[in-house]
Amino acid sequence: MDAKAWDERYAAHDLVWSVEPNRFVAEIIGPMTPGRALDLAAGEGRNAIWMVEQGWSVVALDYSSVAVERMRSLAADRLGHDADRLTPVVGDATVAPPGDPDSYDLALLSYLQLPADEWRSALRAAVTAVRPGGRVVVVGHAGRNLAEGWGGPSDPTVLYDPDAVIDAAQGLPVTVERSGIRERPVDTDDGQRVALDTVVVLRREG
Ligand SMILES: C[S@@+](CC[C@H](N)C(=O)[O-])C[C@H]1O[C@@H](n2cnc3c(N)ncnc32)[C@H](O)[C@@H]1O
Repeated sequence: MDAKAWDERYAAHDLVWSVEPNRFVAEIIGPMTPGRALDLAAGEGRNAIWMVEQGWSVVALDYSSVAVERMRSLAADRLGHDADRLTPVVGDATVAPPGDPDSYDLALLSYLQLPADEWRSALRAAVTAVRPGGRVVVVGHAGRNLAEGWGGPSDPTVLYDPDAVIDAAQGLPVTVERSGIRERPVDTDDGQRVALDTVVVLRREG
């Protein structure tokens, strides 16, 4: 999907994703000491707004202007004055993000579904943005989800098992801190189903 298709998808619904953060984002980032974070392909901002509530200052970028406007409005409702610590930006996650290189404590890629070349560019942008010792957190639909899990995109070229994420990180200055496939229960009209997500945490080397 391109930016126009995402705009249309967001415009067709009041809220496409949940209000709450993704459960793995909350599990991993919750215990971290807040600092400066970059959320690439932030959508309507469910993770970015939650991070601000946890004390982070967040630059949240998405190429859908409809999603970014919604994020801005949700943040104003939920965060009050703390909305000052959220910077919503319309932009491309595959190119250099706003801010200096090595300047963020954390970068998040949450369900960014792109073909391999573009996805690797986004990963490189995230790694380059983060300071030595900072983290890049990757959460997304696993490749295995297609055959074994519920929901998610049906295009296998935008799905990544942990090994594919680690392959994409080859040559980048990172070490793998955590990597695996996690089960995410999903309530559906037909009862609870389980989605399979890839969860990887990379630490930026000095
Ligand atoms: C499945 S949504 C995930 C949104 C959010 N990260 C979350 O977890 O709620 C994927 C998002 O990626 C955005 N996106 C896809 N390709 C992008 C790109 N090259 N640059 C910026 N945003 C992109 C879409 O507009 C969409 O908002």
